[in-house]
Amino acid sequence: MRRHLLAAWTVLWAAAPSAAQTAPPGTPAAPPAISTEFARVEYAPADIAYGARIYDAQCTTCHGSNGDGVGGVDLRSGRFRNAASDQDLVRIVTNGITGTGMLGFKFDGAEVSGIVAYLRNMNTFDRGSVKPGDAARGRPIVEGKGGCLRCHRISGAGSRVAPDLTDVGSARSAGSIQRSLTDPVSQMMPINRPVHVVTRDGKVINGRRLNEDTYTVQLIDEQERLVSLAKTEIREFTILSTSPMPSFSNTLTADELADVVAYLLTLKGR
Ligand code: HEC
Ligand code: HEC
Repeated sequence: MRRHLLAAWTVLWAAAPSAAQTAPPGTPAAPPAISTEFARVEYAPADIAYGARIYDAQCTTCHGSNGDGVGGVDLRSGRFRNAASDQDLVRIVTNGITGTGMLGFKFDGAEVSGIVAYLRNMNTFDRGSVKPGDAARGRPIVEGKGGCLRCHRISGAGSRVAPDLTDVGSARSAGSIQRSLTDPVSQMMPINRPVHVVTRDGKVINGRRLNEDTYTVQLIDEQERLVSLAKTEIREFTILSTSPMPSFSNTLTADELADVVAYLLTLKGR
């Protein structure tokens, strides 16, 4: 619901750029750039672009490329007869609408995030402005100059020091994958956090936390060994807030990053 309100407000704001002057007294003036700010935070361009590709492949047969192929439905208008919130859209797309030609789709999380982001932005999305990534070009970057397999594992190849990416394309949205590449710290998940451990007998272990319960913690150390420690053996346990994952915003071009994201989105773990 909140998302929808924000989206609706964004549209209003965009339509009435002078709203700040005409707002009733007492209404706090909104900072000028707020609409684009919300748009960016709510729907990542990478998600919108991914959604556009799914739409082209799966929805145009009925809805047409302009979203007006089904009588009485105008997907591009941003107003839906059966949906108010993003949750409603997710429900329609995954369950379909009973008794109509709208059938449910078996989408994973990344696909659902993409299609909702696209439906919300179909009106303004400029296909020309986004060069779609090419998965076939992304793969050799991941396996070669990107050096990703030094840390990550994909379908049995590569290292275990960083999370396995074999199913990253269904577990993470396009926008989140994109941010992992350009601002890794922002996407760190607690369970993946790198840790620095000193044991009671003075041994230092740097690694990644895999699992933790009341009495023990399991890590993958820098030599890719699985280490299980009783908490009573541990003298010092530091969870690092910086990521060993480098940002690629300067070492890969925007096109290369798009290709890498496109390739990672094909990794569905199946
Ligand atoms: C086989 C034809 C068909 C395909 C393919 C199809 N749809 Fe639909 N869709 C329909 C029909 C028909 C309706 C109108 C149902 C009704 O009468 O309420 C509809 C309705 C919808 C609605 C609700 C519109 C509203 O105003 O409430 C959304 C959202 C939607 N479709 C999204 C999608 C998306 C996204 C895809 C692709 C992933 C897709 N549809 C694929 C036939 C299709
Ligand atoms: C020096 C090691 C290292 C390299 C090189 C590296 N990564 Fe990472 N990456 C990590 C670590 C560690 C994490 C998880 C913890 C974190 O976010 O710090 C991570 C997280 C990720 C995530 C989020 C995965 C998840 O499920 O949380 C993605 C996606 C990713 N990396 C992709 C890449 C790609 C693509 C490349 C190459 C272009 C790459 N990484 C290179 C260490 C690395």
